[in-house]
Amino acid sequence: MSLSSIIKNIPKAELHLHIEGSLTPELMWRLAEKHSVSLPYASVEEIEAAYNFEDLQSFLDLYYAGAGVLRDEDDFFALMWEYLTRCHEDNIVHTEIMFDPQTHTERDIGFDIFMPGFLKAMEKAKDEYGISSYLIMSFLRHLPEDAAFDTLSAAEPYYEHITAIGLDSSELGHPPSKFERVFKKAKALGFKIVAHAGEEGPASYIWEAIELLDVDRIDHGVRCQEDEALMDLLKERQIPLTVCPLSNLKLCVINDMKDHNIVQLLDAGLLVTVNSDDPTYFGGFLNDNFEALHQSLGIDEKTVRTLVANSFKASFLPQEQKNQLV
Ligand code: ADE
Ligand code: ZN
Repeated sequence: MSLSSIIKNIPKAELHLHIEGSLTPELMWRLAEKHSVSLPYASVEEIEAAYNFEDLQSFLDLYYAGAGVLRDEDDFFALMWEYLTRCHEDNIVHTEIMFDPQTHTERDIGFDIFMPGFLKAMEKAKDEYGISSYLIMSFLRHLPEDAAFDTLSAAEPYYEHITAIGLDSSELGHPPSKFERVFKKAKALGFKIVAHAGEEGPASYIWEAIELLDVDRIDHGVRCQEDEALMDLLKERQIPLTVCPLSNLKLCVINDMKDHNIVQLLDAGLLVTVNSDDPTYFGGFLNDNFEALHQSLGIDEKTVRTLVANSFKASFLPQEQKNQLV
C-alpha cells in the first residue's frame, strides 16, 4: 500500500481544530445569502483567493469576519456537521474541537444558539459515523481576563459537554500569565487545560502555560526548540504538542515546509501530534497535513504510525479506550 493510502486509511485522532476555522468558502457564501450579510467578496473563488496571510493577525482578521455569517442554530449545526463528515471521509475516529464563544457572544449570539447546534451534529456523527468528539472552549487572549471569567460563567449550563478550556487568538503581547486566575478556576472546576503557546510567541510563553496555567497540552509549541531546558521538561513530562504544519506555513511561522522542525521534535523524544488548526483557511485537512510532511520532509510509514499513535495517547479519551486504540 502506498503511504498516501496508509495516511488516508489509518484511524486517527485530531486534537487541534478550530470549528470556526473549518468554515468552507461555499458555506460562508450560502449563509451570507441566507442572512443578507454583505461579504467583501464577489464569489466563492474570491474568498479562496483572499486566503494569503503574512502572519497570525492577518489571518485572524479574516477568520473573525468570516465567522460573522454564523447566526442561528442551524448554521452552527451545518458547520459542525460538515467538519465531522470530513472526519468520516478522512478516517478521523476521535476529535477534540475548539470553539471560540466570544467570537459569537460579542455579536449577541449566545450559548443557547451555538451549543445546541454543535451538540446535535456531534450526536448525529456518533450515531451515523461512530465518531467520538469532545469540545474545548477557548478564551480569546486579545480580550481582558474579566471577559474570560464572564465566558466561563455563561458556559455553566453546558459544563457537562465541555472537556477542556483553551486559550487562542493573537499571541504576541498576550502571555498566558494574563489569564492565570481564570485558568485556576477552570482547573478547580475539573476541566482539562490547553493553551496556544510558542506559535508566534517566545519559548517563555510555553513556560508560563506550563507553570502558571498547568496545561495538559500545548497547542503548536514549535518555538520550544529555542530553549534547551524547556525541551528537557517537555520530554520528561511528555507534555503533548499539537503541531499544525500547514498552519505554520500559511502564517509564515516557517518559510518552507522543508524547514519544519516536527521531525526534530519527535526525534528529541517529545510527544508530538499532527493537526489541521483551521483547515479551510490553510489549504488542507488532517490527511493533507500528513501528506505535506511526507512530500517535504519525507516522513515514512513508521513516523506516520508514531504520530497517529501519539494523537490517541495525547487525547483526553479515558485510558481504557486509549489502550484499545494505540
Ligand atoms: N484561532 C484560530 N486559529 C488560531 C491560531 N492558529 N492561533 C491562534 N489563535 C487561533
Ligand atoms: Zn489553533
